[in-house]
Order: sequence, then C-alpha cells, then structure tokens
Amino acid sequence: MHIHILSIVPELLDSPLNHSIMKRAKDKGLLTVTVHHLRKWAVNEYGQVDDYQYGGGAGMVMMCEPLEKAINELQQERKFDEIIYLTPDGVTLKQQTANRLSLKENLLLICGHYKGIDERIRQHYVTMEISIGDYVLSGGELAAAVLVDAIGRIIPGVLNDETSALTDSFQDQLLAPPVYTRPADYNGWKIPDILLSGDLKKIEEWRHEQALQRTKERRPDLLDE
Ligand code: ADE
Repeated sequence: MHIHILSIVPELLDSPLNHSIMKRAKDKGLLTVTVHHLRKWAVNEYGQVDDYQYGGGAGMVMMCEPLEKAINELQQERKFDEIIYLTPDGVTLKQQTANRLSLKENLLLICGHYKGIDERIRQHYVTMEISIGDYVLSGGELAAAVLVDAIGRIIPGVLNDETSALTDSFQDQLLAPPVYTRPADYNGWKIPDILLSGDLKKIEEWRHEQALQRTKERRPDLLDE
C-alpha cells in the first residue's frame, strides 16, 4: 500500500510513522508513506497556500489552487482509490473503515489547517471525509497519523501473529477481554483460575463472556450496532 499525505507541517508526521509497527510495515515493504509539503504548490514565491474567507470572519482557508495542483500532479503517477480529507465534520473513524481501507493500494490524505480547506476541493476531489473524534485538533496531521496507524497495522503480513489483530477491541463489535502476564500471583493479586486450567475451549468461552460483559458495561452502544 502506498499512502501519500499533503501537509503544511510535514515534520509533525515524522515520528509517529517511523517507529514500532509502522516502521515494521515499511521495512517489510508492505507500506510506503510519502509526505508532500503543500507549499511546493504555493501560489507565489512567499509560499502562500491560504487566504481570507469570503463573507468575513476570523481564520484563514486553504486555497483551491495549491491543493488542485498537488492532487493533479500526484494523480499523474497513480490512481488514488480514495482521496481522504481529515476534518472534525467528517464521518467518525471506526474499525470497519480502517479494515476496508487496509485493502486499498493507493490513498491520498489531505491535512487541513486554520478554518479548513476551500469547500470546492471537498466537492470536486475528496472522496471520503474522516474525523477521528468529536474534538478539534490544530491540524489534520495527528488525525492522519492515527488513520495511517489504524490502517497500517492490519495490512496482511504486518503483525507477526496474524490473529492478534482479529482479537483487538472492535473487530467483532466487542471490547477486548482483560489480559494478564506473569507472575500469576503478584503481591497477593491472583489471576483468574480458569487461565491456568489449560482448557483452551473453556478459556475461549471465559474470554468471550468477559468481552461481552465489558462491552455491556462500558459501550452498550456497540451491542446495538
Ligand atoms: N482536524 C482537526 N480536528 C480533527 C479531527 N477531530 N479529526 C480529523 N481531522 C481533524
């Protein structure tokens, strides 16, 4: 998979996408992430990419021209399966969306700043609008990093133990059950006996029961879905 990102603060994306599982995905050749500085397509020599909004009001708007030029130039080399704009008024990101996107080949992510991007780019180029939650960040970069991480870790072959993504919270509309590691007795806090029983079928049932109970208590809305 190839993910391209348009940003005016590419430095924000350096660290989150170059460590841990994202680094592994890249090292295995399963994912490339290319961050493009939008100012490369600025409208003048001062690097302008934004302007005042029509109708007045505080806050700048990212202009059509640099975005259109950037998209067109990148599209000459590959066809994007989706052009995704990260924005708080987009559709809230869910595991199912990440699953679906992990099967694509080429994605373009657009990070907004200030008041956002000119509506006409949204209408004519953007194919998906994604929010990572009901709060406003100072730009789309951290949201893009969240999206790339959520997608990248489930690309087939990225995780060592393929099944570990299948047992994540949300994969089956359930939160994950509690987990424990050694020692079995820590300062008198004992792990549930069932986990020491060696009965894999019973353990699986117990885990499912725990996942269900946890979901009922914390996220009953998931069960309605
Ligand atoms: N840009 C600013 N806030 C955002 C959010 N919550 N989700 C996605 N992009 C954003």
